[in-house]
Amino acid sequence: MKNGKLGYAVVGLGVGMAHVSAAAKYDKCELVAVCDLIKEKRDKVLEAYPGTKAYLSFDGMLKDPEIDIISICLPSAMHAEYAVRAMEAGKHVLVEKPIDITVEAAMKIEEARVRTGMTAGVIHQNRNNAVMKPIKEAVDAGRLGKMVLATFAVKWYRDAHYYEGWHGTWSMDGGGSLMNQAVHTVDLMQWLMGDVVSVHSTMGIYNHDIETEDMTASVITFKSGAAATFVSTTCAYPGISTDIQLYGTGGTIEADADILKRWKLRDAEDEEEEEEDMLERYGGGNRIAEREDPTLVTGHASMVRNMVDAVLSGTDPQILPMEAIKSVRIVNAIYESAKTGKTIYFE
Ligand SMILES: NC(=O)c1ccc[n+]([C@@H]2O[C@H](COP(=O)([O-])OP(=O)(O)OC[C@H]3O[C@@H](n4cnc5c(N)ncnc54)[C@H](O)[C@@H]3O)[C@@H](O)[C@H]2O)c1
Repeated sequence: MKNGKLGYAVVGLGVGMAHVSAAAKYDKCELVAVCDLIKEKRDKVLEAYPGTKAYLSFDGMLKDPEIDIISICLPSAMHAEYAVRAMEAGKHVLVEKPIDITVEAAMKIEEARVRTGMTAGVIHQNRNNAVMKPIKEAVDAGRLGKMVLATFAVKWYRDAHYYEGWHGTWSMDGGGSLMNQAVHTVDLMQWLMGDVVSVHSTMGIYNHDIETEDMTASVITFKSGAAATFVSTTCAYPGISTDIQLYGTGGTIEADADILKRWKLRDAEDEEEEEEDMLERYGGGNRIAEREDPTLVTGHASMVRNMVDAVLSGTDPQILPMEAIKSVRIVNAIYESAKTGKTIYFE
């Protein structure tokens, strides 16, 4: 605790900087410390947030009694080890996506959460895009009728420079375009479509000097009886979109990332009026939705705030480890299918 508020810390200052600014802006916690191996990154935080402590050593940071919550923003294969160490030192953890690169590693976070009684949350901030709330509500309320088909397409671009470090390695990234970029959308897919029954996939390396993949394409079936196609790439110059398209017997919803494109539901009192209204509210993405509703919080800020609120109230954070593990299981099944040429069936 610091100044009577929960003390917040961040390890790993790449995307970790989004956690730093979210914690610094939230009035229910106090940004206490950061940790990174690179001095320039630590110095940047000290400059922007004077009074913050900057640690080179994670062990050193764990001994700091002012810290209550640590955001784990390290390369993906380090998440479980560092999250477990933090919880064993009495710190709550908010872990970046993917929770780790294998189900086995991710389960260590769940085991430590149960054993230590600390709170563990995982980041999948795209669930908090403004448009996802009405989409999820429409799906859960059965407004799309019997789900028939969904298409998910993550058509992004990364240049050669992006892959100079740990990205695109099996050992640290656990994959390429799918495990790193598209895992967000795999999470949304399983959240919206429910349990997966099978995946059949192909993958390849087309435009980067990497070990893993820069393109995957899959056919996925669900317990509901619906099917989906899921494609991911980091070769779609200059970086195009994330399509989320849902087709049921009751109608169609299509979005491009946080931007609603189509809302045609048969059970609407007035289909056209409802679509017009929805496009006005959500057709401009988070930026416009936040302007219209100043209480709306999206992105990393929404998840950092949710974590702080959960610790303060002793409730579960928005995404628990067992929920985040689902997307890692699907991603690894896609890789197994692509490597073996076989359809992978889930139990
Ligand atoms: N939610 C999102 O939108 C989002 C976006 C980008 C990255 N991520 C995830 O965040 C994680 C980090 O990705 P990134 O792009 O920020 O990586 P990055 O390489 O830019 O940053 C990682 C940082 O960790 C530091 N680091 C490495 N080992 C360390 C150690 N032992 N002690 C202290 N610091 C150490 C590095 O110096 C580096 O600054 C990944 O799991 C990635 O998947 C999530």
